[in-house]
Amino acid sequence: MTTTDTYTEYDTWAWLYNQTMGPEYAQSQMRSLRKILLNHLPEKAKILDLCCGTGHVMAALVKEGYHVTGIDGSEAMLAYADKNASSAGITQADARSFIVETQFDAVISTSASLNHMMSLEDLKQVFQCVHNALKENGIFTFDINHRDQMEKWWRGKVVEGEIESNFAWFLVPTYDGDRAEGNFQVTLFKAPKARQNSLFSPFLRRIIYAILKLRRLTRFRFKLLSNFRRWEKQWERSDMTYPVKGYTLPEVTTALQDTGFTNIQVCTVDGSPKVDSNHSAHFVCQKAF
Ligand SMILES: C[S@@+](CC[C@H](N)C(=O)[O-])C[C@H]1O[C@@H](n2cnc3c(N)ncnc32)[C@H](O)[C@@H]1O
Repeated sequence: MTTTDTYTEYDTWAWLYNQTMGPEYAQSQMRSLRKILLNHLPEKAKILDLCCGTGHVMAALVKEGYHVTGIDGSEAMLAYADKNASSAGITQADARSFIVETQFDAVISTSASLNHMMSLEDLKQVFQCVHNALKENGIFTFDINHRDQMEKWWRGKVVEGEIESNFAWFLVPTYDGDRAEGNFQVTLFKAPKARQNSLFSPFLRRIIYAILKLRRLTRFRFKLLSNFRRWEKQWERSDMTYPVKGYTLPEVTTALQDTGFTNIQVCTVDGSPKVDSNHSAHFVCQKAF
């Protein structure tokens, strides 16, 4: 893919993302946005959600009275955003080349969307577009997974996943420190519509899957998911892979400075300045006056 193409990869994930990660991530993203951004904005401020996905964060911002616009490359993700945040403005565009007609008080980009920029050059292009889209003194905030964190945690094991009555999914992130590149593989199983022969009766199976939703049984759920084919031979399996790039915190900071951002701060999702290998990095910066 050249940098002039629009990133559409998430079309294949949209259905699943809309009912699993979209709503779940929006809650922690809003907690973080309240701490690091919303207190500094005027009422009814204009916010651009870059890589807005299924629009769950936009929906929460609209509810709080902000004027929100979303940009994403994936038509299928935007179709859900349109339903979830119907009063937000929505545009399909690539984060590396978008142009807006109006300027914003803030630009946000949540859930490590910018790790999909596969080179520092691409990341800088995004920063330039964001800079152009902001009013003077406007704020830009985004979270990103950084190299030390990816090296420590992206180990080719199931880290997220659920089993529902008619579908199951899990996510496995991997990372190659030498290339500073990785990917997450998303696996989806869909139950057949017709009655099936399973190892357990459907009733018993539903009970087991419901019990496995308990937080303290997460490890067992992940174990079962990584062997799910064994238990549910007739569920249709599909695998999707999404490449990502790892950046160091100084790399990102320098790229922001080079673009003309100032007051650059980095913190954890809870607002602590101690960003180490256990935390993703939440950047906040400002377009200089
Ligand atoms: C992990 S999802 C995050 C969605 C949303 N921000 C959230 O918090 O749930 C990443 C999103 O970034 C979008 N994306 C990735 N690269 C993009 C690009 N170059 N241009 C536009 N959208 C992009 C994908 O289509 C996807 O919707």
